[in-house]
Amino acid sequence: MKYLVFNSKKEASKEAYKILRSLIDENSTLGLATGSTPTDLYEEMITDYKAGNFSYKNIKSYNLDEYVGISYDHPESYHKFMETNLFDHVDIDKANTHVPDASAEDLEGALKSYQEALNNANIDVQLLGVGSNGHIGFNEPGTSFEAGVHVVDLKEDTIQANSRFFNNDINLVPKQAVTMGIKDIMRAKNIILLAFGKAKQDAIRSLVEGDKVTEDVPCTILKNHPSVYVLVDKEADFQ
Ligand code: F6R
Repeated sequence: MKYLVFNSKKEASKEAYKILRSLIDENSTLGLATGSTPTDLYEEMITDYKAGNFSYKNIKSYNLDEYVGISYDHPESYHKFMETNLFDHVDIDKANTHVPDASAEDLEGALKSYQEALNNANIDVQLLGVGSNGHIGFNEPGTSFEAGVHVVDLKEDTIQANSRFFNNDINLVPKQAVTMGIKDIMRAKNIILLAFGKAKQDAIRSLVEGDKVTEDVPCTILKNHPSVYVLVDKEADFQ
């Protein structure tokens, strides 16, 4: 595991982009994340695309998760997030982008087909943020490391943390999500995890310090992955 500390989210995201570029080519498959963590990295990707240095025409992408119970058009759906923060600004073919279908009438069927798609995906780089409770994707503490794509009941602290995107009203925050499982995340060839702000410090300590791997802190599974880059700002650094 490479652990790198930066003065700011911006600096960390610039380096994360350099690392990403060193790991992919224009035919690669990306695993993407939402939330506030990857936004500056997505800006770096857009800037470099606009400068003519990289094309997404043949890039495929698979997102980690999506809320259950809000429509794709909802401004806080992860479908919408990806369009607003990345897909609408680069030449990616939307047919090559995949976000779990969490509003399907046949949710079981939708989980199955996302699982099948992931099984055939061969993700070159998976981008991750981390929850303050150590969740990756929406694999909350206690989730089996053997889990594949599944519906999750979001923990109270996750709902609380995400209420900032929903007028700070926890009643508006979806209580369930569909997420890739830990097993799916671990299958990526490379992983880049970003973490910013003091709230992430404990999760980062559990991930980087020592060798304890526990389902109580899902991100600790990454200690067992052969190619992980962890980039944090100094507030998230635990040392
Ligand atoms: C988002 C995701 C989550 C977030 C995590 C941190 O697709 O899978 O694990 O990465 O909740 O969220 P932010 O970045 O908003 O602090």
